[in-house]
Amino acid sequence: MVSATAPGKIILFGEHAVVYGRPAIAVPLSQLKATAVVSPGTQPGIRLIAPDLGQDIMLTDASPDDPIAAVIWQVQTAVNRPTLPDLTITVSSQIPVASGLGSGAAITAAVIRALASFLGVGHLATNAWVSALTYEVEKIHHGTPSGIDNTVVAYEMPVYFVRQASGNHLEPFTVAQPLHLLVADTGVRSSTRVAVGDVRRQWQAAPEKFEAIFDGCGHIAVAARAAIEAGDTATLGALMVENHAWLQEMTVSSPELDTLVTAAANAGALGAKLSGAGRGGNMIALVTPKTAATVRAALYTAGAKTILAATLEPS
Ligand code: MEV
Repeated sequence: MVSATAPGKIILFGEHAVVYGRPAIAVPLSQLKATAVVSPGTQPGIRLIAPDLGQDIMLTDASPDDPIAAVIWQVQTAVNRPTLPDLTITVSSQIPVASGLGSGAAITAAVIRALASFLGVGHLATNAWVSALTYEVEKIHHGTPSGIDNTVVAYEMPVYFVRQASGNHLEPFTVAQPLHLLVADTGVRSSTRVAVGDVRRQWQAAPEKFEAIFDGCGHIAVAARAAIEAGDTATLGALMVENHAWLQEMTVSSPELDTLVTAAANAGALGAKLSGAGRGGNMIALVTPKTAATVRAALYTAGAKTILAATLEPS
């Protein structure tokens, strides 16, 4: 039996604009994990169990768009194994689905690692390989992913990411001061595919306006990286507020997200913004150890369903 995990992720800056080649910054959310366990089959064939989804099926019965089946087919192709031994894959995840925290990418990456290891080709499963295969699966579900989600969950490190046709540009960066974040869930589930598709339609209808918005987000990501490297949390907070305003312009915020962002700011957060595809899901607030409790309480009062604390430690 082998098992593997992959973390959730938080986009700090640059979601959506990253699809259009602007830089973005994302960090792993390592306290929430997806786990895949592969064990020898007790039945002929490949059995897929996902207790969280109430799923227990044979691969041969999976629909063509079944997310776990898609991962298995990708791995089979990548390792050139048209037939697999009898096995059971069990998938579970602590990452809420459709909430901007990278649940799909994490499940995919965990299954890829566990399956590669079970098949005796674990040496192939470098971070780059897992990221590339996860990206292929993300394309099936999300249409035009930038590649940032698969990158951050496969490498499990903070990344400054730029999508490029010639091969994505990925830079680690240093963190000078601890960054204390609260990650608050609106409880509203939202499809990344729909949000990304809506932004694309708006960009096609008003390219100049949207290119300017994306440029605005790109400049913020560049400035944010410098602020993280300098430990300038005041600037970082202000950049989060600016980034949220651009995301509102893209129409990917929501009344629930705006309420939480405003509540965090009023309670003394250095900055706050939605995180991920938007329209629901999670927002993040930058706090200090002193303001954390007040901001947390204000977020709950404003309707947050769950709140996680995440600290980005100096590197
Ligand atoms: C989703 O986590 C981030 C988006 O920018 C989409 C993507 O980059 O693929 C909204």
